[in-house]
Amino acid sequence: MAVTVTTMKKMKQEKDKITWLTAYDYSFASLVDEQGVDAILVGDSLGMVMQGHETPVPVTIEQSCYHTECVARGVSNTMVVGDLPFGSYQTSKEQAYENAVKLMRSGAHTVKLEGGELQVETIQFLVERGIAVCAHIGLTPQSVHQLGGFKVQGRGAAANQLIEDALAVEQAGAFAVVLEAVPQSLAEQITQKLSIPTIGIGAGPACDGQVLVLQDMLGIYPQKSPKFCKNYMEGAETIQQAVGNYVAEVKEGMFPAQEHCFN
Ligand code: KIV
Repeated sequence: MAVTVTTMKKMKQEKDKITWLTAYDYSFASLVDEQGVDAILVGDSLGMVMQGHETPVPVTIEQSCYHTECVARGVSNTMVVGDLPFGSYQTSKEQAYENAVKLMRSGAHTVKLEGGELQVETIQFLVERGIAVCAHIGLTPQSVHQLGGFKVQGRGAAANQLIEDALAVEQAGAFAVVLEAVPQSLAEQITQKLSIPTIGIGAGPACDGQVLVLQDMLGIYPQKSPKFCKNYMEGAETIQQAVGNYVAEVKEGMFPAQEHCFN
């Protein structure tokens, strides 16, 4: 049965861990779908792993739509999350709506955007118009130049702001929130406070679900992988097995292990 926002909410309530992976093309999307991953994020990480840029900043809405179309053709049950790239939603809520519609016409079931409190009006505007929105807080790669690099967020006094951001996006109607590169105890607190699922990447095992960049977890991205990633091709004979092992380890609470976490 197709995975929906309702499925994910129920999974949180039943403490059934949610699995997400990125994918950007038809073949990998079909494989990920077959392995029972709950959602495919057509992330703007495509700028790095598909295009070879150092950050996702150069990705355009046209490119996001193209990759979303490719992924959507490969999917039967998995939710497709389209990613609004840098510059495609920050000007106005109307701009965000126009570009979210483009992603949905390309086959996305839901959309993701980066930001917490500052994006509340935009999230509300999209939700009121029938668009399911996932927020992304913590390390927000589109702001990498402002953040001074791909660094852990929410340590010390910054923790309160992240909690406020999470509560604000839930209140605005987001169906889920990605927590990237935050201390595991903070991610746990946020997960307990929210009724919507938290999807962690470098945020520890207490999150309701996990997401990884496909090329990172297959060990095929030529740059150094982040600490929070695990190479699932090690010990696997096929890509299918690697993805299946990821799903099993997330479901069993074995991934992420302490070595993949920040404190
Ligand atoms: O673009 C992406 O792949 C992402 C994940 C890292 C969460 O935003």
